[in-house]
Parts: sequence; structure tokens; C-alpha cells
Amino acid sequence: MLDQIAKRLTAADLKANLDDIQGGLLTEYDTLACRYVFYRIDDPAKGRAWLRELVDDVTSCKGYAEGAAPNGTLNIAISVWGLKALGLSDCVVGSFPHAFCQGMRARAAALGDVGPSAPENWEGKLGSEEIHVLVALSHASPKACGEQHTWLSSVTEQIGGVAEVHMIPAEVIFDQRAGCPSAHFGYADPISQPAIEGFEEQARPGDGAIGPDGRWRPIKPGEFLLGYENELGERTETPGPPGLCDNGTFIVFRKAHQDVAGFHDYLKQGAMALWGQDDHDHQELMAAKIVGRWRSGCPLALSPERDDPAIAADPERVNDFDYADDPEGTKCPLGAHLRRANPRATKLTTTTDINRKRMLRRGLEYGPPLPVGAPDDGVDRGQAGLFVVADIELQFEFIQAQWICKGDFIGLPTDEKDPLIGPNRGEGQFTVPGADMPFLFDLRQFVTTKGGEYFFVPGLRALRGIADGSF
Ligand code: HEM
Repeated sequence: MLDQIAKRLTAADLKANLDDIQGGLLTEYDTLACRYVFYRIDDPAKGRAWLRELVDDVTSCKGYAEGAAPNGTLNIAISVWGLKALGLSDCVVGSFPHAFCQGMRARAAALGDVGPSAPENWEGKLGSEEIHVLVALSHASPKACGEQHTWLSSVTEQIGGVAEVHMIPAEVIFDQRAGCPSAHFGYADPISQPAIEGFEEQARPGDGAIGPDGRWRPIKPGEFLLGYENELGERTETPGPPGLCDNGTFIVFRKAHQDVAGFHDYLKQGAMALWGQDDHDHQELMAAKIVGRWRSGCPLALSPERDDPAIAADPERVNDFDYADDPEGTKCPLGAHLRRANPRATKLTTTTDINRKRMLRRGLEYGPPLPVGAPDDGVDRGQAGLFVVADIELQFEFIQAQWICKGDFIGLPTDEKDPLIGPNRGEGQFTVPGADMPFLFDLRQFVTTKGGEYFFVPGLRALRGIADGSF
């Protein structure tokens, strides 16, 4: 097995390794509730004993991929501080990529985590050297998930030497505007995810990369898993000694507060500024321009003037577009969240291999939904976002720093940021070609980072090895 990994795994090897890849990475769980529990390891030997106790309960990708999904799931990810706290040597830890070794707090300014999103305002010790292990639990209901957590707490207490530092409960929410699993701002989400070669037989139109024949093809697995062939045809590097990173990857965890009432107030203001009208239809058009999709999920690229629920409901059409016929952004603004985060065939001002800038988006929403039309109730709600990438710097950090927080890559002013999640702080600009007044100014900040961290997600054999002290 080690020889095979050192050679280079290709898409053809993926299926045979599903039992070693942690679940929730290549596929989304269809459980409705989740708890993200963060731990600190105070005693390396007890920390390893704790992992040994949990490792048999860790869910792999295999069951989900083969339609035999377990009722509850448990997954484990480890920060750089956690690898050290579990007793891995400085030499092994130091071989991990620079961004991971620095941790998210040190990278905050480049990620746009400034002002209210700055690390000094982060919660629950997120981003601190006390966040060692993330245990993600998921189950059919919040109650069942709570019971899993009670069991985990009793295991943790029995062994000792490990302390719970923070916990975020999250859930699938349904918004009446989207009419399906959605985000607090009221949009269907997620819809677009990269298809993975060797895992999916073929890409649903829009989910992969555009091949030379104009058809969509899945992305190489090395963009999401260490040791596999990536889009360059090379093996994605595996840090550490042989075996440690086999079938492993990285996740970026981000807790992002959403100002739902502020966002909806702004839709009125924005619609009035762009079209001189703030009736319901113009507010919905404003909402669609900001994201690039109508609330139903129907993309502006396919239906720029009105929502088309039939497109939203059709898996073959809902993601089947590439913006090639919309170079100016009159259908979907160049700066819309969707187009920035995955510009597809948009002509960029810098040469960028967009197939190496993909992420698997996981995670759920935390906090109760704010009823439509209700004023702000002061309750914290938002996204517990999880992004799966083989290279934190090349994928997540690049997208966040260069595409979300800047505009020049797509021909917009450098300081024009993502209108939905950019750090706009009341001074943002949003270019909306085709509107009566095609610029919005004084854009507010709707999303505030409340904390985050980079984690390594070992394969199951490697997790056992860490627990046994083999590395
Ligand atoms: C609270 C924070 C966020 C909210 C509310 C949000 C909302 C959305 C929505 C509504 C969609 C459209 C659904 C879909 O196409 O799947 C979407 C797509 C997407 N978002 Fe976000 N998002 C957030 C944070 C982020 C961050 C931090 C990133 C990356 C740095 C990101 C990257 C993406 C990508 C890659 C897509 C799919 C684009 C495509 O393939 O066309 N999002 N997001």
C-alpha cells in the first residue's frame, strides 16, 4: 500500500481507497444536524488514548458512496497545534505546508479578516493555539446529535487529559424563499460542487471543468486529496513520513456571522439606487445580482430577467453555464459572489488555472433562521463553513484573498470586493452593468468572520497511526 501511495494515486485508485478516506469530504452527509466540537489536548499520551477510543467510530466515505449511510457520523480533524500536542515531532509537523503551520489567525489580514472580522474579535478561542482537534458529529436531528455529544463528553471525561474548548451546533435550514435547503440569506445552497474523477462517473453539467470538446469533465482527485494526481498531472504532495498523509486532506473551518436583517434592508436601498424602484421584484433582482443566482438557485446566467423555478429544479440545467456569452456581466455581474468564486470561462486579467482553484464546500448553517421580514433580533446566526482543499494556500486562500477581496482579476477596480461576503464596511462598491445606474456605493458588510482554523484530516489508517504514536 505504501509503495502504491508513494508512486502516485490516480482517479482509478480512488474507489479502492474509500474506506480509508474520512466521510463528509467527497460527499456531503444527508444528515440534518451537526455539532462541531473543538478540543484541547493537555496530555499527549491521553490525547492519543482518546483518539484510539474514537477511531473505530470514525465514518469513512465508503458507506455513503455505496448507499449504506450510517445513522450518525463522527469525523476528526487536527490543527497544527493538535499535531504537536499529540506528540508528533517538530520535524514532521514542520514538513506540513506553511499556511497550515501558521494557522488561520496569522493569515487573517490577507484573507480580509480585518475590522470587525479581525482575530481579536473571534470567539470560542477559535484561531488560538488551544484549538487542537475538531470532532464533527452529525445525525438525523439536533436531539440525536446532542445525544452523540453526551456520549463523546463521557468518553472524553473518562480518559482525561483532553478538554472541550468550544462547540458550534449547526443545522440544515429551509428558507421559504428558496423552498429547499438554504442559507440564512434565503438562497438555495449548495448547488455547485466540483465533480471528482474516479468518484463520479461523469460530471453533472457545470460541476467540473470544461473539456476541449466543450463538455464538462470531473476534476482530478489530487485537487481534494493528498497523494493523488492533480490537474497538473502531478502527485499532490504528502508531508511527513510515508503513510501520514495517505488519503488525507485539509479543511478550512470558518464561522461566519450573517447580518440577515441588514442584508434585506440593503436590498431595498440597492434596488432604489440601481433602478429607482424598491418593489418586491426589484429587491429580488438586487438579491440575484449580488449572488449570481435567484433565491431558487436558478442562475442569472441562464435567466437574467426573472426567476425560472423550472431551471432551478432541473439538475441538468441548474449549473450548466460558463459566462462565455456574457463578457460584460450584463446578465450576471462580473463581481457577483458566484462569478468571483468560480469564474468558469470568464476572461481573467491574469493567467490563472481555474481548475486548480476549486473547493468542495461543506458545513451547515448555525443559529435559527430569521423569519422573512422580521427586524434584527440580535441572535447570532450564520454559516459554519467547511472548505475541503488539498492546498490551502493555492485554493482557499487564493480565492478568498484575490477573488473575494479584490476586483482587478476580473476587470473591476482593485478595491471592489465580493458584495455578499467581502469586507465592505459601508464603503464598498458593486458594478452592475445594465442597471439604470450601474454602480452601487456604500455597500455594507453582511458577513463577519467569528473565527476559524486550518485542519488536517488524516485518512483512517493514518489516524490510527497517530493514535498509536507511530509517527
Ligand atoms: C456566509 C458566507 C457565505 C454565504 C452566505 C455564501 C453563499 C453562497 C450561495 C448562496 C451560493 C450559491 C449556491 C451554489 O451555487 O452552490 C454560493 C456559491 C459558492 N460560494 Fe459561497 N457563500 C459564503 C461563503 C463563501 C466563501 C468564504 C467562499 C470561498 C472563499 C465561497 C465560495 C463559493 C463557491 C466556490 C460557490 C460556487 C460557485 C460556482 O461553482 O459557481 N463562499 N455561496
